[in-house]
Amino acid sequence: MNKTNKNNSRLPKAKGTDMATVYMPKECARKVRHIVLNECNQRIIDEFMMILDMKEKFIEQDVPMPNKLVMSGPPGTGKTLTAFYIAERLQLPLVLVRLDTIIHSHLGETASNIRKIFDFARLSPCVLFLDEFDAIARTRDNNDEVKEMSRVVNTLLQCMDEFEGESILVAATNLADELDHAVWRRFDTKMDYAMPSDQDRQHYIQLLIGSFATIGTLEHTASTILSGCSFADIEQIVLKAKRKAIIEDSALTLHQLQTAYEEYNPKVHAYV
Ligand SMILES: Nc1ncnc2c1ncn2[C@@H]1O[C@H](COP(=O)(O)OP(=O)(O)OP(=O)(O)O)[C@@H](O)[C@H]1O
Ligand SMILES: [Mg+2]
Repeated sequence: MNKTNKNNSRLPKAKGTDMATVYMPKECARKVRHIVLNECNQRIIDEFMMILDMKEKFIEQDVPMPNKLVMSGPPGTGKTLTAFYIAERLQLPLVLVRLDTIIHSHLGETASNIRKIFDFARLSPCVLFLDEFDAIARTRDNNDEVKEMSRVVNTLLQCMDEFEGESILVAATNLADELDHAVWRRFDTKMDYAMPSDQDRQHYIQLLIGSFATIGTLEHTASTILSGCSFADIEQIVLKAKRKAIIEDSALTLHQLQTAYEEYNPKVHAYV
């Protein structure tokens, strides 16, 4: 496993694998400083956390705790960031696995790799984050290598069914419609991501500007300029504009934001 923090040495290693990157809670906290979640997703996460805090009550009432969460939606809307956020809130390490790399680099051994990853999460409490989840969990009948993939999906289903203990499984995909139904059904918590609303854009722009000096209040008009952009695009454009301000030795202006937008030329989603 790749390590991003020395404290990882306390974690048991997945045998002979380099399939995952581990982030300790402190690093997760640093990454999620500027997270903006829409009301619905914030509520879903808060409830998820509240339930985990009330473990005894759930055991007493014989109601199973949720431990499998799936996020779907377009690129740059905060799915990966949310996995860091969950790990930070639970004060657990985040074990990030990109499922597409497992298939490409370990052809024929994919099922065994999935087992190793789940074994690791069983032995060591963590947020197990399976990114690019559709790489494996696509519907079984739209794949040429049907038999091989079907075996892999079966292994995934089995691992998900047996998944219990302290760890939490989090998965993310851009392609919810293509996920295998049996896999989809096994998640107890689902979150949809979308391009930010005007209100969320303004909030995010405010967070990104932070204490940087500006000419006037920018977020309202900036949000209109950046309408249809993902959070990831907004971040890049605001950073670009800040660089311009530094070069020009000025406070941040709407003109710099507008130029940064034009130069960055994001793929804008007209339906927002
Ligand atoms: N909801 C958000 N709040 C704050 N920042 C965000 C949000 N979404 C995206 N960002 C910014 O954009 C970057 C990329 O976002 P992230 O990796 O979470 O997107 P994603 O939804 O996982 O995209 P992909 O589908 O391409 O994997 C983040 O590191 C963060 O800087
Ligand atoms: Mg992602």
